[in-house]
Amino acid sequence: MPSLVIVGAQWGDEGKGKITDLWAESAQVVARYQGGSNAGHTVVAGGQTYKLHLVPAGILRPGVTAVIGNGVVVDPAFLLQEMETLAAQGVDLSGLRISDRAHVVMPYHILMDQLEEERRPAAERIGTTGRGIGPCYVDKAQRTGIRMGDLTDAGLLRKCLDLVMPLKNAELSQVYGHKPLDVEEVWRRFADYGRRLKPYVTDTGALLRQALRSGQRVLLEGANGALLDIDHGTYPFVTSSTPTAGGAASGSGIGPTDLDAVVGVAKAYTTRVGEGPFPTELKNSIGDRMRERGHEYGTTTGRPRRCGWFDAMVVRHAAQVNGMHGLALMHLDVLAGLDTVKICTGYRRRGELLPAFPASLDKLAECEPVYEELPGWTEDGLQVTAYGQLPAAVRGYVERISAVVGLPVVSVSVGPERSQTLVRTDLWQAAQRIADAKAQAQEQAWRLQA
Ligand code: GDP
Ligand code: IMO
Ligand code: MG
Repeated sequence: MPSLVIVGAQWGDEGKGKITDLWAESAQVVARYQGGSNAGHTVVAGGQTYKLHLVPAGILRPGVTAVIGNGVVVDPAFLLQEMETLAAQGVDLSGLRISDRAHVVMPYHILMDQLEEERRPAAERIGTTGRGIGPCYVDKAQRTGIRMGDLTDAGLLRKCLDLVMPLKNAELSQVYGHKPLDVEEVWRRFADYGRRLKPYVTDTGALLRQALRSGQRVLLEGANGALLDIDHGTYPFVTSSTPTAGGAASGSGIGPTDLDAVVGVAKAYTTRVGEGPFPTELKNSIGDRMRERGHEYGTTTGRPRRCGWFDAMVVRHAAQVNGMHGLALMHLDVLAGLDTVKICTGYRRRGELLPAFPASLDKLAECEPVYEELPGWTEDGLQVTAYGQLPAAVRGYVERISAVVGLPVVSVSVGPERSQTLVRTDLWQAAQRIADAKAQAQEQAWRLQA
């Protein structure tokens, strides 16, 4: 205790890497709990840019144990490459641990992800990252997956492959017209990955539970975003896992009662990469300006991100399905230079205001954003050291977002550098207060009668 969950409050790329890195400085453990190499978390520190995909951002802080939890899907070739890149940047990887229960992304998953996208008519494509994420989670649910514990045992791996690959090869050739994969070649290659990753593979759930029991600070680093959540996102234009805070428990092996503070990360505007609905999207010069000023090109795929105004319907929905306590608001510098800025406070459909974010995409397509217009700001006065020193227009915008979303804004970010964050609430102190209060309440609530 305590634990802190950092989640994306929009469609991903909100700046989770930056916020994770900030609070990892005073953490002992940082764990990823879902997603895979579809994630791209950027940390800019001391003039260096680190791009993390599978390795938790906590790895950049000396002494932190960085856990790839059971809910993550691991592409071992990609992970080894990422580890090599980080090592070349001078990052110490000795604190990395990988769950023996995490599922392995196999070559047929990557192929099927890409072939399935190609097979679909353009209007039905998800716009996936092509990293095999969906098909790997399909196998996990189908109970035909291969786990890290299997990968590190060459004999067991061979048994798994002999069972599953004939099925995968039949699907590859008969459904997609692709040539079958060679079992022997896949086995040799993956047994080698397993051998190289074995020193890092362990029971990370036990590690996390022990860390919490001994009073360590555990940060759970969400990937993707609430609106990409398989249950709560804009289905089917979602990823195949649970980025929302509920996934932090099941995807790491700690109990839901062990989750203390939950903080969402949101941009001061909205972006989305890939297909799917986006009510406040700006297909005009303001959207283009956001993209250029914010360097809105995917960390993972390099695709241009779609940009639009801040959408409080989206972030309110995210706040609710995550049980968020606070919001870290990012990228306020990107909006600088506009005369006015807009916030979408609600959706109107057929003349009526919607009470909540709709499940139906047809309904969503009929929604018109209701906007509030606020004064803009310039670059001047953004590079300050305390929130109270920011120009009044910036603070006015932040306070309005806080009011329409219904959450305190716990920090404000005005640039990509580690130092360009204005902290308003110490998240570890907040998490500790919640943990203490829970412990006290639990002691009283469960007193047994004589
Ligand atoms: P994540 O996936 O949520 O970790 O976010 P990404 O790393 O994919 O994308 C966020 C991008 O914005 C990265 O390039 C960050 O370096 C950058 N960034 C983070 N915070 C800010 C900010 O306040 N202002 C600007 N201009 N860039 C930021
Ligand atoms: P981070 O952690 C932004 C999107 C993809 C696609 C959909 C499904 O960096 O915020 P998938 O490959 O997961 O099956 O793709 O989800 N997507 C992301 N968008 N940031 C991410 O991660 C994303 N991870 C997946 O673009 O629309
Ligand atoms: Mg990203």
